[in-house]
Amino acid sequence: MTGSNPTPLLLRAAQGQSVERPPVWMMRQAGRYMKAYRDLREKYPSFRDRSEIPEVAIEVSLQPWKAFKPDGVILFSDIVTPLPGMGVGMDVAEGKGPIIDEPIRSQAQIDALTTLDPDESMPYIRKILGALREEVGNESTVLGFVGAPWTLAAYIVEGKGSKTYSNIKRMAFTEPKMLHSLLSKIADNIAIYVRHQIDCGAQVVQLFDSWAGQLSPQDYKAFALPYQQQIVRQVKQTHPDTPLILLVSGSAGVLELMGESGVDIISVDWSVDMADARRRLGSDMMVQGNVDPGVLFGSKEGIRDRIIDTVKKAGSKGHILNLGHGILPGTPEENGAYFFEVGKQVNDLLAAKV
Ligand code: CP3
Repeated sequence: MTGSNPTPLLLRAAQGQSVERPPVWMMRQAGRYMKAYRDLREKYPSFRDRSEIPEVAIEVSLQPWKAFKPDGVILFSDIVTPLPGMGVGMDVAEGKGPIIDEPIRSQAQIDALTTLDPDESMPYIRKILGALREEVGNESTVLGFVGAPWTLAAYIVEGKGSKTYSNIKRMAFTEPKMLHSLLSKIADNIAIYVRHQIDCGAQVVQLFDSWAGQLSPQDYKAFALPYQQQIVRQVKQTHPDTPLILLVSGSAGVLELMGESGVDIISVDWSVDMADARRRLGSDMMVQGNVDPGVLFGSKEGIRDRIIDTVKKAGSKGHILNLGHGILPGTPEENGAYFFEVGKQVNDLLAAKV
């Protein structure tokens, strides 16, 4: 039935069609909780090698596909991957995340940023996405992803991950014009990159504004939302049919504002109950999520009950089953497998529960 349908399940759901069951994938589904990934990491210790050597990145992207057959296969990469193509040198350090060579703190540095030419600075993206499409055919949907401007600016200005975001907030509240010019430049470049990913084969693209939940709602409105909108507007002009998803971590205070971004699907984290998210976002907005990744440390029964609860609250249409954020390192791999297994049988389980 599904196998003969030319359009894969997740893509149909993301286009707003009625589907036979909610599609299921997992943020960070390729990564350290998988033994196959840890083994490959020993052979290729550098994250940039793992994500920029096409054969290796293709293999990592396909590890969860081969193990669990998820309804979505996401490009193995990072949100900071396009930065060198904009003139921002970086590395991804083990256990720490992105490190920026020279943090950007002045207008002169912002003015010196370059326009992204993805085929020139990231030739591997075309190869990886093309290979993923070929490998999964119409059995799964290939997802691309990018970082949204506030979150990328947080790395660029801080120089690394942060708990307090003091440097970018200092810029926001002492030199707002300067920060706006940085955010706008990032938005234009990221719009180019989203279009490129779609041209290379991405069927759905997720925008990660992971650290925008660190902003008060009024500052989210000033520094995050307009630049999410800038990207969505530019992408929809040329690629109106590609569904876009937006994730913010710790989104409870800004959920309605996320709905104003122009995306098709809101990825809801566990700071909001799914029933509450549905009420607040309205029936026209699709949702993704929102099981707490921590639940995967617990019992199988607990995992199953949370999935059923989430699917019930999300309703039968316009929901992509996922965690509320990435699966955590150290999660038992069999519990990851169980999440997919239950996700695919959820209709039967719901029927049995009634
Ligand atoms: O979902 C997937 O399977 C694709 C993989 C993916 C990675 N990074 C690979 C990665 C995705 C979607 C990202 C996006 C990303 N990167 C985000 C947005 C998503 C989110 O979590 O909010 C952010 C904020 C980053 C920045 C970043 N890169 C962090 C915070 C870290 C983790 C630091 C650590 O080691 O715990 C990274 C490194 C990174 N990116 C890893 C992976 C699998 C871990 C490094 C490794 O495996 O060696």
